[in-house]
Amino acid sequence: MSQAQPIAELLEAASRPFEEARAMPPSAYTSPDFLARETEAIFAREWVCVGRASGLANAGDYLTYELAGQPVMVLRDREGQLRAFSNVCLHRMSTLLEGCGNKRAIVCPYHAWTYGLDGRLRGAPFMGGTTGFRKEEYALPSIRCEEWLGWIYITLDKDRPSVATELRPLEDMIARYGMEHYVECFRETHVWDTNWKVLAENFMESYHLPVCHAGTVGGHSKLEEMDCPPGLAAFNYHWITKEASLPIGNAHPDNTRLDGHWRKTTALLTIYPSHLITLTPGYFWYLSLQPKGTGQVAMVFGGGLSPEFMADPRAADHMATLKTLLDEVNVEDRGCTEKVFRGMNAGAARPGHLSYLERPLYDFMQYIADRVAGFDRSFALAAE
Ligand code: FES
Ligand SMILES: [Fe+2]
Repeated sequence: MSQAQPIAELLEAASRPFEEARAMPPSAYTSPDFLARETEAIFAREWVCVGRASGLANAGDYLTYELAGQPVMVLRDREGQLRAFSNVCLHRMSTLLEGCGNKRAIVCPYHAWTYGLDGRLRGAPFMGGTTGFRKEEYALPSIRCEEWLGWIYITLDKDRPSVATELRPLEDMIARYGMEHYVECFRETHVWDTNWKVLAENFMESYHLPVCHAGTVGGHSKLEEMDCPPGLAAFNYHWITKEASLPIGNAHPDNTRLDGHWRKTTALLTIYPSHLITLTPGYFWYLSLQPKGTGQVAMVFGGGLSPEFMADPRAADHMATLKTLLDEVNVEDRGCTEKVFRGMNAGAARPGHLSYLERPLYDFMQYIADRVAGFDRSFALAAE
């Protein structure tokens, strides 16, 4: 199958109005050619979140990430700036850093070419006799890196507008939460056996909560009270207003930023393509997704507390209870999303109608269709 067929199938599905919409066709999830198109048209161009800035608090703190197949490092330099660089050595192209941690300098594990936190080559053993080698001419290529409400975003696209510009409407919508002050308490990486979009879609609809999560948070979910408005260009969202399943899901008594129903309203945010945030009045958790082939997804999974709960004497207890619950919920989500991917690979797989509670999936389908099409879909749709 070439790229053309799954793209054509997706464009056909995305051309229906929401009232008649069905899930995306299986080929959009199972075709390696379609994933190649997503990599070049989405992951190589968009802003992608790699974690919280508070997770890189000190000079030399770093994390690594793979963006559209490119190994990338993000670190805090000696001046306190966040910087992102190619994580590939300029000698014989080994990758440099692994995982996350703190380094005073970046030393290549192969022949110890050594770079400063500004990316410049500082030293290269036994290169003195090599005519024409000048270490001043070597510096790791920089990658654009910006901070937005406490999140670190990177992009391989030199020209796109800033994150803050693209997410201004979202910033206005959630300003009252003060998300920039929330503190990350854990950051992990996991790999699940499903397509990255299956996991993203699982996150962006709460229709599955009473069933998939019957053993944990399902009983607290009132589908009748969910509000799923149409999404915007760079993100989709929905709100859940409820008595939280944990005390920290509602606003802390010391929280004076939120009033009325906002004190018990949770925002479910999907920032395209791959940053998924659950923002409650008392805590947050997030995923940042990296496709690993069509049938696997690597994710950064992190979360933490609002400043009031961080300041609470019982902060450690609250965090431990939250983490236990999130881990249990993740086991349930993993089961459901891996089953979906298995089903999609069956010859009998056919996409069914979407519920009105799955509005964000429809918006996500439009977004994916826009990006992979390679032409102006609004013109094509108008011409029909
Ligand atoms: S590949 Fe990095 S020092 Fe040789
Ligand atoms: Fe879930």
